[in-house]
Amino acid sequence: MLQKIQETAEYLKSLIKTQPKTGIILGTGLGNLVTQITDKTEIPYETIPNFPVSTVEGHSGKLILGKLGGIDILAMQGRFHYYEGYDMKSVTFPVRVMKAIGIENLLVSNASGGVNPEFEIGDLMIITDHINLFPEHPLRGKNYNELGPRFPDMSEAYTKDFITKAKSIATRNNIKVVEGVYVGTSGPTFETPSEYRYFRTIGGDAVGMSTVPEVIVANHAGMKVFGISIVTDLGVPGKIVEVTHEEVQEIGNRVQPLMTQIMKELVKEI
Ligand code: HPA
Repeated sequence: MLQKIQETAEYLKSLIKTQPKTGIILGTGLGNLVTQITDKTEIPYETIPNFPVSTVEGHSGKLILGKLGGIDILAMQGRFHYYEGYDMKSVTFPVRVMKAIGIENLLVSNASGGVNPEFEIGDLMIITDHINLFPEHPLRGKNYNELGPRFPDMSEAYTKDFITKAKSIATRNNIKVVEGVYVGTSGPTFETPSEYRYFRTIGGDAVGMSTVPEVIVANHAGMKVFGISIVTDLGVPGKIVEVTHEEVQEIGNRVQPLMTQIMKELVKEI
């Protein structure tokens, strides 16, 4: 694994002349931020050695190097989901590569189902913490001390300073944000009403099928993390209706520009 990470990092370094400090992972259909990136170099996943290839509809699958609000960044448009069949080492491989090319901060976005009864469809939730309910752990198996410690601390998995900054950016721009705990689960089914109730009971505010593996690996690697979720449907008693992938994307599309604005200003401040 170490050799693969190095090989991929070397390949990417040979293509880029900049040294981005921040990496961004864009969730399901959340490519709007890409329209704001200037001086773009696009690298399709299938051309990157050792990279898994994304398959699901709505995920176009490329790395984008460029500037966001004038700051050098590296963005992943489309991520690798556990439910697609990738193992956790593949799901989190891009984060390892980001670290190996010198990236220090990871910004992640996703779509989720809200289980907090105060939430509304279309809310932007700043992720304050997560609960890992995936059936496989990305750090299971031999630990490579070069990558991080055997027992990583997770007491501040989402950097408080980034949360504070994002909240001020939202206030300044008149963008409504909520905060909460993201429950990560394997999918690909959306939840039954009882499962939504369970996620609320254990302390969740929203549930989704991604993010947690990448954030665990970023923490293992000593990176600082910021996460934001678009609440595309509600798993709240009395408000549960049928959810479709298309609806999730439609709501995501509507709210994305607000998320983009927060990310764009945040990269300048971190
Ligand atoms: N559950 C899980 N993942 C999701 C949901 C949901 O309700 N909405 C968007 N992603």
